Amino acid sequence: MADLALVVLAAGMGTRMNSALPKVLHKIAGRSMLGHVLHAGKALGAKRAVIVHGPDMAAVRKEASAVIANCDFVEQTERKGTGHAVSMTKDTLQDFSGTVLVLYGDVPLIKAVTLNKLLAMLNAKTRMAVLGFETENPFGYGRLIGTKAAITDIREELDASAKEKKINRCNSGIIAIDNALLWKIMPKLSNKNAKGEYYLTDLVKLASKTKTKVAVAYCDEMDVAGVNDRNQLSVLERHYQREARKAAMANGATLIDPDTVYFSADTKLGKDVVIEPNVFFGPKAVIGDCVEIAAFSHIEGAAVEQGARIGPFARLRPGAEIGASAHIGNFVEIKKSKIGVGAKANHLSYIGDAIVGAGSNIGAGTITCNYDGYDKHLTEIGEKVFVGSNTALVAPVKIGAGVNIAAGSVITANVPEDALAMSRVPQEIKEGWAKRYRTMKQARKAEKMKSKGA
Ligand code: UD1
Ligand code: CA
Repeated sequence: MADLALVVLAAGMGTRMNSALPKVLHKIAGRSMLGHVLHAGKALGAKRAVIVHGPDMAAVRKEASAVIANCDFVEQTERKGTGHAVSMTKDTLQDFSGTVLVLYGDVPLIKAVTLNKLLAMLNAKTRMAVLGFETENPFGYGRLIGTKAAITDIREELDASAKEKKINRCNSGIIAIDNALLWKIMPKLSNKNAKGEYYLTDLVKLASKTKTKVAVAYCDEMDVAGVNDRNQLSVLERHYQREARKAAMANGATLIDPDTVYFSADTKLGKDVVIEPNVFFGPKAVIGDCVEIAAFSHIEGAAVEQGARIGPFARLRPGAEIGASAHIGNFVEIKKSKIGVGAKANHLSYIGDAIVGAGSNIGAGTITCNYDGYDKHLTEIGEKVFVGSNTALVAPVKIGAGVNIAAGSVITANVPEDALAMSRVPQEIKEGWAKRYRTMKQARKAEKMKSKGA
């Protein structure tokens, strides 16, 4: 196949989002809309990408470069239409030879398989192809003029005749076109239309005049749905999650109540993972085979190895690495810590900036005191350590293998292998004290009542 360059239109500020953030940086499944579009393009093997952005969009540049490192950027200061936006990339693409694929930063659910179908239509006689869809409610979209397989024009809503308005085959906006043809016909675009804009869609009519066929590939309406406000953002999020749940189950995960599980675009699940209701995956979660994730767990930036059990009510934060068969139980928070094979932290703990050796047991209420208000410090726990309940481990601190720590200890110094560490006030016993106290208090109370009654 010919080399591929993406042109992504991302100039819209998204006034209706009512946001300080550029529209294309709003997220669906933890990934920006622009990120979704570029990931789809990258999956096609695009060699280059040019982002057309609005004024002052440093954040857009940063986000795009994180997906495709050698992205080019051009600024469209004045909004003169989709054709004008694409024309801005002329200098950048002048040395390019191949196919240009025009995508939209606010049309995030576009799939690589759909784009491949579009690209597959191109050949020596078909040098342009448009991605279309059929809908019961075509209002507002450009209508495809011609046969179902090949078109000769696209008519915008405002320019359409009553008869044309009845056409329900619509333009998604996404087109693929040979680079040489694009720049040959681009100068002929005019803005003599209802909106006074340079319409990208007019390329169809101009291409047809050069005797190339313009083909159409069709997709689902939702795959090319755009986002203009936060309500539409939520509609696309819901659609994305529904598909992600189906894909997770198809790939071998059990979701007890799929509608309550939320994935990120990059969540990776192994085989035979079981996920209970109300589990949320933030970005960068990698879950190994046969892991069980119990209800109400929140997992982000964490890797969980085979056979581990997480939750209910567990929180795995970025940098949590949970070893095979380890157990992380209720109300346990793990951040930037390695939990060894078969280790357990089953109740009410915070483990941050720590290494926990294989087979160690972290008692209920154990806290790594990793932060001194300025810096973070490391807690190292060897293998097969028993940490008694309600222990505070004041980092930096090292606990040797095989150590026992007495419950309630505040550990401030390193503990050598196989030792017992105990740091708490020794217990005192006062025989009969409670009974004497009770007797004295009851007597005083009785006296008071008597004097009141008198
Ligand atoms: C466009 C298509 C229409 C199609 C519809 C699909 C044209 C002329 N019309 O119409 O056939 O059915 O999309 O949703 O192309 N943009 C810029 N710079 C500009 C103008 C637009 O970057 O100067 C970007 C917008 O931010 C947006 C996209 O291009 O992401 C589409 O622009 P918009 O004005 O929404 O086009 P529509 O009128 O919806
Ligand atoms: Ca639009």
